[in-house]
Amino acid sequence: MGLAIVVLVGGISLLRGHPLLGGSAISLGLIFTFVQYSQRFNQPIQQIAVLWTNIQSAIAGGERIFGLLDIPTTLEENPNAVEMPPIEGHVVFEEVEMSYNPGEPVLQGIEFEAKPGQMIAIVGPTGAGKTTMINLIPRFYDADSGSVRIDGHDVRDVSLPSLRRQIGIVLQDTFLFSDTVMNNIRYGKLDATDEEVIAAAKMVAADSFIERLPDGYETLLGERGSGLSQGQRQLIAIARVALMNPRVLILDEATSSVDTRTERIIQAAFEKLLAGRTSFVIAHRLSTIRNADQVFMVKAGQIAERGTHDELLEQQGAYYDLYMSQFRRQEEPAAAPNGNRPIAEPAQSGD
Ligand SMILES: Nc1ncnc2c1ncn2[C@@H]1O[C@H](COP(=O)(O)OP(=O)(O)OP(=O)(O)O)[C@@H](O)[C@H]1O
Ligand SMILES: [Mg+2]
Repeated sequence: MGLAIVVLVGGISLLRGHPLLGGSAISLGLIFTFVQYSQRFNQPIQQIAVLWTNIQSAIAGGERIFGLLDIPTTLEENPNAVEMPPIEGHVVFEEVEMSYNPGEPVLQGIEFEAKPGQMIAIVGPTGAGKTTMINLIPRFYDADSGSVRIDGHDVRDVSLPSLRRQIGIVLQDTFLFSDTVMNNIRYGKLDATDEEVIAAAKMVAADSFIERLPDGYETLLGERGSGLSQGQRQLIAIARVALMNPRVLILDEATSSVDTRTERIIQAAFEKLLAGRTSFVIAHRLSTIRNADQVFMVKAGQIAERGTHDELLEQQGAYYDLYMSQFRRQEEPAAAPNGNRPIAEPAQSGD
């Protein structure tokens, strides 16, 4: 607008040939100079405007950074924390209550005992609190009340690194680094030699697919393990835990998206891994549940039913319903399709 006014007023004065405000007539050169000056005047004002926008976004960014820094850590390391001695695998939950948001309990009155070497299968509808329950064992969260004890040590009284170093975890969504396969497995035990890594991979039958990769164990994986299938990624995560050789194991079984052959390999790998360790498995496979020493049916944050697979079926409660709606399909080929005695179990021979 400034430019337009200068050109307009200057142009009219120039054409009329006499002064607009008392002086002599102006020249074209004067108008040109005036335009130049007015632009020089505008430039710094524009720069200030740009600068102000930048300052505003810097302030917004700063607010977020400090907002994050100000979030209180919910998990405080106990100042008197002791090193967790080598774990034997006796896990006890006592009257555990837990909520993510105050006043909305997710777990209530969870009470159980897992003896060393036992395998616990946890089943239940989605959102029941299964993941929340196992998250309390490596102390990813703290219980609101009650206690979680491993070999008699409350998990809040031992140092986090010494606790987590001894608990192996394989989740559905495994995390792999953009590094070689060898180093990804070695992450389970940082000082392991190449031979130890390969032995762990062999133990869980992951070596056959690894050796078929372009550079074998030295194959570079992409970000988050891209370039591998989900089943292969999980096999690497299982090998990682096998190398770690923990006394307590936590597994979140994959629900789908692996073919039956890989599924069988993973299943066998799990079984090898579980032998002789205290394990908690969020189970989606019937075969896992059958092998379990105890099955917990979690419903709305409580252990609604517990027992072995057979005992729970006999109760004809919530587990029975779940079995009929979800797991029965998995044994259809073994059971008579129209069998009218659903409780009768066909003798399960090893696969
Ligand atoms: N980080 C969180 N913050 C707030 N609420 C959460 C959080 N994680 C889970 N919840 C809530 O707690 C409840 C139990 O969740 P949890 O993940 O334990 O269920 P789940 O039994 O593992 O379910 P799924 O079978 O789908 O994995 C759900 O209602 C969920 O919405
Ligand atoms: Mg879950």
